[in-house]
Amino acid sequence: MELRWWQRRAIYQIYPRSFADASGDGVGDLRGIVDRLDYIASVGVGAIWLSPFYPSPMADFGYDVADYTDVDPVFGTLDDFDELVEQAHRRGLRVVVDWVPNHSSDQHPWFKESRASRDSARRDWYVWRDPAPGGGPPNNWERAFGIGPAWTFDEQSGQYYLHSFLPQQPDLNWENAEVEAAMHDVLRFWLRRGVDGFRIDVIQKLAKDPELGDNEPELRHDEDWPAIHDRLRRIRAVVHEFDDRMLVGEVYIFDLRRLASYVSTGDELDLAHNFVFLHLPWDAQAIRASVDDFVELAGSIAWPAWFLSNHDHPRVASRFAAVPGSGERRARLAALLTAAMRGTPFVYQGEELGLPDAEIPPDRVVDVDGRDPERAPIPWQPSSVAGPGVGFTSGEPWLPIVADADRLCVEAQDADPDSTLAFVRRLLALRADVEALQGGSQRSVDTAPGLFCFLREDDGARLLVALNFTSGSVQLALSEEVGDSAEVELSTSPRRAPGPADLRTLELEPDEGIVFRLR
Ligand code: NOJ
Repeated sequence: MELRWWQRRAIYQIYPRSFADASGDGVGDLRGIVDRLDYIASVGVGAIWLSPFYPSPMADFGYDVADYTDVDPVFGTLDDFDELVEQAHRRGLRVVVDWVPNHSSDQHPWFKESRASRDSARRDWYVWRDPAPGGGPPNNWERAFGIGPAWTFDEQSGQYYLHSFLPQQPDLNWENAEVEAAMHDVLRFWLRRGVDGFRIDVIQKLAKDPELGDNEPELRHDEDWPAIHDRLRRIRAVVHEFDDRMLVGEVYIFDLRRLASYVSTGDELDLAHNFVFLHLPWDAQAIRASVDDFVELAGSIAWPAWFLSNHDHPRVASRFAAVPGSGERRARLAALLTAAMRGTPFVYQGEELGLPDAEIPPDRVVDVDGRDPERAPIPWQPSSVAGPGVGFTSGEPWLPIVADADRLCVEAQDADPDSTLAFVRRLLALRADVEALQGGSQRSVDTAPGLFCFLREDDGARLLVALNFTSGSVQLALSEEVGDSAEVELSTSPRRAPGPADLRTLELEPDEGIVFRLR
């Protein structure tokens, strides 16, 4: 099977505010990313995905877009963006950008015009409704981020407008063909500038019940409406006006069957972020069951995407830490799990360092939804070398720096062959080197409780991946004859060297993961 670029290599998510600040204002920017492209390439990923850098009042840190075709001055200019694309491509890195089609900022000229009066030419670009007969919001839909209706009353025109997220993020009306055409043109704008793909924000929200029926216990009317699939096909058609591009959707729904329907027909998304997987407990059985389910549902057409963290969820090292030290070990195990399975791995910036969440004192909280800890800046250098900005900024960082930055920073890990960074580099190099880890088939193998084991096979090459999800040592007890002798290719543990291993007696260390080559 001929694999596409986005199937072979991992995709690295950059949250631009927190990656690297070249201007010294305490907020990361596009120049900062350009300066660090060699580092990104050295990790071994094949592409970067940039969270939004468009002009924005930052009520939701860029997911409230006030102009879809420009760069916010805090991040730089369109020239900086062009330079970033050119420099990334020169290093063999593809560039994926975030497209936020469900809602704009309330400061977008489209919304200002829409809001101006009931007769405005763009009134219908957003979703306006009269109050319910007895007064109050038009239906029972709720917004994300806190409790409350997804509707805000506009005194001036006497109607409510819909916002699935903050009141500052009004939902665009995708029932209106002009809106659809305008948003398609946004895609073309960035495609012409050379981007290789898009991550689509909350794609399931792009089709809602046009009758605005109340949500019911068993049926949501405010997302995932059947029209989504035709809308996605039309989006794909736009992207396919250009060569070799990719679409990954944030499909925030918790039904694997519905999730799979966004990727399984071959003419919608290329990849779907699987939030069922992200929310699983740290439990081998639960993970195996969910992986098996998705692999079966995906069938032969859909290609999975695997990830366990992004800018909206606590980091692996904090979320899954059991005993002291296990956080970093589990970050390595998570990296191995996501990179060794069949599918495209996503690496959120800082996961390759095993970073924990940062402590955010109450007076430094800036996000509306408690997501500051996982958005703390990347520590590049020890404070003894670079001062309190740890190489992220020469100014005052917009969020606090993580604890232990001197030990966890890039410069320190770069110099340590036993570091998490060194492990992730070996892991991604192995994946790049071994075809079976890219296109090979995947099959789970029964083993001891607490372990998740699977085989990757391709053209006679066979690899066994064994992952210990417990904080104790566990003997590998394969119920199936996969052969006794194997070579350890890679382990998350610095104590286990590559070389021959006996699968009958092998014991995994706490939180250890191993890739074996079977003879
Ligand atoms: C998902 C994004 O990842 C998140 O950061 C944002 O707040 C919401 N969508 C709304 O755009």
